[in-house]
Amino acid sequence: MIFGASGDLTARKLVPALYNLALQHLLPASFAVIGSARRAVTEDAFRTELHDAVAEFSRTRPINEEVWATFARSIHYVPTPDDSGFDELSRVLARIDGEIGANGNRLFYLATPPAAYEPIIRAIGAHDLRGATGWSRVVVEKPYGHDLESAMHLTSVIQEVFREDEVFRIDHYLGKETVQNILVLRFANSIFEPIWTRQYVDHVQITAAESIGIEERAGYYDSAGAMRDIVQNHLLQLLALVAMEPPSAFDDRSVRDEKVKVLRALRRIAPEEVGELTVRGQYGPGFIGGERVVGYGQETGVAPSSPTETYVALKCFIDNWRWEGTPFYIRTGKRLPKRSTEIAIRFRLAPHRIFTREASEGVDANELVLRIQPDEGISLTFGAKVPVQGLRIRSVNMDFGYGESFMVDAPDSYETLILDALRGDATLFTRRDEVEQQWAFVDPILAGWHAGRQELATYAAGTWGPEPAETLLARDGRTWRRP
Ligand code: BG6
Repeated sequence: MIFGASGDLTARKLVPALYNLALQHLLPASFAVIGSARRAVTEDAFRTELHDAVAEFSRTRPINEEVWATFARSIHYVPTPDDSGFDELSRVLARIDGEIGANGNRLFYLATPPAAYEPIIRAIGAHDLRGATGWSRVVVEKPYGHDLESAMHLTSVIQEVFREDEVFRIDHYLGKETVQNILVLRFANSIFEPIWTRQYVDHVQITAAESIGIEERAGYYDSAGAMRDIVQNHLLQLLALVAMEPPSAFDDRSVRDEKVKVLRALRRIAPEEVGELTVRGQYGPGFIGGERVVGYGQETGVAPSSPTETYVALKCFIDNWRWEGTPFYIRTGKRLPKRSTEIAIRFRLAPHRIFTREASEGVDANELVLRIQPDEGISLTFGAKVPVQGLRIRSVNMDFGYGESFMVDAPDSYETLILDALRGDATLFTRRDEVEQQWAFVDPILAGWHAGRQELATYAAGTWGPEPAETLLARDGRTWRRP
């Protein structure tokens, strides 16, 4: 059941993901999709819209018409402009359930703007949309709340209708193959874990750079900003995966227990500290790929004086045995020169230098870079002897690329996550306490910004962010990587 069936997410992500699952024969035999939104539209028209969306947004193209035709027969639409719509929905659910023999198993997907979450959850409860038999689960999209208080409130509303183990809070980053591979790299190999500590790691940099602006999302973005849009969820999840202790098993409880421990150990940045430990920026006009683009304040739907940040950089610490004193620098921004998400583990320099300064001129510390996207892969830099007489050392690169090694297209993160939700595996979804810890970290920073303790710095679109972001690292004698 998809609520918000007329929206962008349904067209761009959910239905293309379902279609691709159908293409790979990964959907159960007794399966139907029921879309719902306010507007009235016939089932045929709805299917045609979705067909066109899949043709445009599916990762596999062109669309396989035969597979689509079979899949499309399982798609239905029920408008819910008001309360009576939910009675009809309840009847349709029961009818289709009987027809396909779904045993009352139901997955509700909230793909609406967040303001509609509460009324829909309540309607699911009031109109008995949960099946009388089988399982019911709810997938909740981000943003999950606007701050800690609203996130806790949302959880309490959801818990009137669903148990915590039935709630699947989605963070689509966790569905990315390369994000899951962070755990595989760390815990399926024995050579990395012993050096994954404060003794060997000098610092960690986590970057989520985007070249796109805010596209047509001013309404949402201007009240969210980069902190709520990316840092609170995607970046803190990456940080948790990189920094967590080894879980005892790869299951939802063990993995999420370890992530939440790290999030709890993440040192809070008090409002008085935001001047020293945080940077917020906003893009001005500039050039992306040679094309002139407008500044944030000139985007459609944004007030010229909007104080919303489109760039954030933070210096964080994790107060535990493994990481005490090791800085984690994280940054994200829109309208940066290129799209690149990566995690760089920078190791300490060799403790004692036996080669001359001239021989090792320009040699850097070892660095392990996990490239999340694009150009997914992992690389390790180390010093090697240049093959000439005499001793000269240069940094070289050992590189693993997903594309070359596996020669297959990775599934889209929504395919992975929808399938996991259908199977009832919540490992790659965010638990209530994780979300709360994430907000508990972000809220005091936002409070410091709102109290005017950190100025909004501007950067030209197409550059690597505002000047103070460079200073944040330069003060520690470090620089940001250029992805
Ligand atoms: C979304 C944000 O969660 O993630 C967007 O709302 C952002 O602003 C997007 O562009 C980035 O996701 P991806 O998968 O394209 O890196």
